Amino acid sequence: MGAVTVITSGKGGVGKSTISAGLGSALARRGRRVLLIDGDAGLRSLDHMLSVSEQLVFDISDVIAGNCEPIRAIYPCEQEPGLFLLPAPSREEDTVRPAVMRRLVPILARYYDHVLIDCPAGIGLTFYSAISAADRALVVATPDPVCLRDCDKVRLLLTKQGISSQRLIINRFEYSSFVKMNCYTDLDSVIDSAGIRLIAVVPEDIHLAVSTANGSPVPLKTPGAQALGRLAARLEGEQVPLVLSRM
Ligand SMILES: Nc1ncnc2c1ncn2[C@@H]1O[C@H](COP(=O)(O)OP(=O)(O)OP(=O)(O)O)[C@@H](O)[C@H]1O
Ligand SMILES: [Mg+2]
Repeated sequence: MGAVTVITSGKGGVGKSTISAGLGSALARRGRRVLLIDGDAGLRSLDHMLSVSEQLVFDISDVIAGNCEPIRAIYPCEQEPGLFLLPAPSREEDTVRPAVMRRLVPILARYYDHVLIDCPAGIGLTFYSAISAADRALVVATPDPVCLRDCDKVRLLLTKQGISSQRLIINRFEYSSFVKMNCYTDLDSVIDSAGIRLIAVVPEDIHLAVSTANGSPVPLKTPGAQALGRLAARLEGEQVPLVLSRM
């Protein structure tokens, strides 16, 4: 049965969906079967980022309502063999209740090596729905004080919900702006502010932004794709050193 990982954050717009899509691709490129669940009811975005929006008929709320078998609502991502998407409902009112997620997700996880759940911004019902079935959490933050303070709040909420396995992803890292901001002496102080152990640093990379905007795969040799590849390896237990030199 696949590990269930939620990708979450305190602040919105920090790159959860970008990292969910990119990490899903990176795991699929390692030969894994990956199910991405879009947890952002009402504001779904992964169908666009993965270029499956044209085919979309059913979503997770149809599975729950019994309108279709789960397999009819799970869309293979043609550009990334091994990667599959279960879209979010188009209306926030159709958010799947946490108790229902806890029953559904483990059943789906039997057929995949990884299940990744893209969490929405905020800490309302959609947040609790997205985290409810997770075994572990990746908390995404940009290296600025406001974002990191919210990170600490989310850490506490996750812990309260019994998700003690938490790792931090610093996204959109750019050495020159980091130094100019003059808020932190080094990455260790960033990690201390978030209160979560670091698993990856993803650089600011235009290729990631372009690929999510166009629904095209991130070119393999780009810094963002490489950072996500290292993250995928670490999630699978490999010891991979942090690389900051090219950022
Ligand atoms: N590492 C990166 N380099 C460059 N651009 C990035 C990077 N990560 C994210 N972005 C850009 O930041 C914007 C927000 O990203 P995204 O939609 O993934 O954030 P989010 O956390 O999912 O937002 P929300 O909280 O609204 O769901 C997008 O335009 C995306 O292309
Ligand atoms: Mg998002």
